[in-house]
Amino acid sequence: METLKVGYCLTGSYCTFRKSLTALADLLEKGFEVYPMMSENAYHTDTRFGKAKDFVATIEQMTGKKVLSTISEVEPIGPKKYIDVMVLSPCTGNTLSKLANGITDTAATMATKASLRNGIPVVIALATNDGLGQSAKSLGMLMPVKNVYFVPLAQDDPIKKPTSLVCDFTKVTETVLAAAEGKQVEPVIF
Ligand SMILES: Cc1cc2nc3c(=O)[nH]c(=O)nc-3n(C[C@H](O)[C@H](O)[C@H](O)COP(=O)(O)O)c2cc1C
Repeated sequence: METLKVGYCLTGSYCTFRKSLTALADLLEKGFEVYPMMSENAYHTDTRFGKAKDFVATIEQMTGKKVLSTISEVEPIGPKKYIDVMVLSPCTGNTLSKLANGITDTAATMATKASLRNGIPVVIALATNDGLGQSAKSLGMLMPVKNVYFVPLAQDDPIKKPTSLVCDFTKVTETVLAAAEGKQVEPVIF
């Protein structure tokens, strides 16, 4: 079997970066060739969860590749067709809603648009505290879209954060493998 080439893009759910990096490590350990990407916000923003430059350095060291973080850097994914599966992990409510509405103004949305236009599967690892709020309609719009797959997700704290949804980052690899075969891992909502 040929090595699966995966585009792996982090967007600005900073509190889930460490879980995302564990998922990235698992993909690398399983032998996938990973092309790292970050949304502009993820690439540049320091938060209480860590400094942007430290995350970038860690990801570049893990993958051995430069992190792509601009629309022009990811645009060749369309014409050059060099990835087999595109992963947004974590995916913010912001990026989810842009995708649902055909907005392409970040590296993350551009990489996704470039993938979908070539029929390349897109895997969304959602983490947003408005998943059952304002972003719920975007989730509903994207769920039935061809070639879009979700890492299984759940309410992470239904009592204190009733509209929050977070995926199970330990299922990223499994979802990528299933997506490469045109299948959604179930149950998608657990
Ligand atoms: C500390 C911090 C944590 C955040 N966590 C989340 C999150 O978990 N999920 C989310 O959807 N947005 C979160 N946001 C908001 C996004 O970063 C914001 O919507 C941003 O515009 C996302 O841009 P992007 O989707 O292009 O990366 C957080 C912002 C900050 C400053």
